[in-house]
Amino acid sequence: AARPVSISIDAGKPGPVINKNVYGQFAEHLGTGVYEGMWVGPKSTIPNTRGWRNDVVGALKALHVPLVRWPGGCFADTYHWRDGIGPQHQRPSNVHANGSVDEFNAVGTHEFFDLIEMLGAEAYVNGNVGTGSVQEMADWVEYMTADGGSPLARLRARNGREKPFKVAYFGIGNELWGCGGNMKPEYYASLYSNYEHFLRAPAQSRPKMIASGSDTAWTEVLSKELKGRTIGISVHQYTVPTGNWDVKGKDLGFKEDEWISTLANTMKMDQMIKDHVAVLDRNDPKKTIGLMIDEWGTWYDEAAGRSALFQQNSLRDALVAALNFNIFHQHAERVPMTTIAQMVNVLQAMILTDKEKMVLTPTYYAFQMYVPFQDADSLPLAIKDNTSYTLGTVTIPGVSASAARARDGKLYLALVNTDPSRAVDVAVDVAGTKLQGAAGKVLTAAAMDAHNTFQHPQAIRPAPFSTRAAGGKLSIKVPAKAVMVVALEK
Ligand code: AHR
Repeated sequence: AARPVSISIDAGKPGPVINKNVYGQFAEHLGTGVYEGMWVGPKSTIPNTRGWRNDVVGALKALHVPLVRWPGGCFADTYHWRDGIGPQHQRPSNVHANGSVDEFNAVGTHEFFDLIEMLGAEAYVNGNVGTGSVQEMADWVEYMTADGGSPLARLRARNGREKPFKVAYFGIGNELWGCGGNMKPEYYASLYSNYEHFLRAPAQSRPKMIASGSDTAWTEVLSKELKGRTIGISVHQYTVPTGNWDVKGKDLGFKEDEWISTLANTMKMDQMIKDHVAVLDRNDPKKTIGLMIDEWGTWYDEAAGRSALFQQNSLRDALVAALNFNIFHQHAERVPMTTIAQMVNVLQAMILTDKEKMVLTPTYYAFQMYVPFQDADSLPLAIKDNTSYTLGTVTIPGVSASAARARDGKLYLALVNTDPSRAVDVAVDVAGTKLQGAAGKVLTAAAMDAHNTFQHPQAIRPAPFSTRAAGGKLSIKVPAKAVMVVALEK
């Protein structure tokens, strides 16, 4: 028999906390991501609470979504917040620059915070630099955060909300190098400073400001110019199976070459983070600036007849999610936030809807299995004798792993087996501890593209898993193409 992969965890030397906001999500007014997917309006026959679908909100609550980024994306840089307040029937309809949404503004600031408060999540609001103004953005921040005396606080109260909203994070623009305005980093850095200067809020409720970045050249400029004015620089990193944006690859029905290329491409996240962190470590050695990966996930070719950026989501997406989680945990010190693109019906979604029907995707289940990692202490782990998985010219590690001590005091181990054909034995030890067993969940299926449909909503979901130590040794058999999260039992 092949030698097992060996994983040694040092529970005595906890690393940085894995910020719960690493498990954040992105909800943009795009396709059916917000309208239909989440918001159906209070008069809909689909059961809802003040317009938000009960089934979707319930599923998101079960996921302990810690943070939601809204309203975009590219949408944010064409969004004018005043269109989305006041009586619903008086709100304008407008087509936005990205053209994908006939925006009727039923979901605006108040509705978004209603959702946030139902979910118990933090709000990450993204402001409009591209087509807005400093005054418009300053007014929005004041409208959301000011108390009593301000005219905009009084307007908010007239619109039904006396108490300020809690804006945990505020993003100043999005993809300023592209859809946000084709800018150079130096120009944006000056603009950012001006915007940030005029965004006033009571000290105790001032949102934490986030700058929008791009590649390491942008991080170089922004981390030098914006120190003290930002708590983070956002970067976007999507996974395209073929690596070619013109022919990205299909969501389903792919062959093994696109299984491995997707996983290999997604694992480039690690090097991307390292490259940015090297710049940050040079320009910000006191680590005041985080790397906010506020758009990530798979992006496939769009099939005809579907809403914009709608794609199915298979077992492969669950592995993509888990591989990224394991990478984010390794960089917990500099990566305090990520928001996957996106929450519902858009790109690598948690949830898909079709009228009154809803399905949970394999990505949803990966997020659910990793809930114990939210706010857990990361633990150093060494992998020895790792297998590798090769197809053609591509080789990737067979096993990816991450360990942490969760808020419940237990030790958790996450394992991913990237090989679609071979199970792998993993020998686990925790220094100074005699392990008795492991128990948790495993997500796998017979097909690489196993997925849930509206006809078969439970085709793939996690199964319980447990194993006992034998002869003082804990060995875990991880099935082929699987994500597993277990609590280690002492
Ligand atoms: O997530 C979809 C789009 O991708 C976002 O609007 C934009 O920021 C990115 O290019």
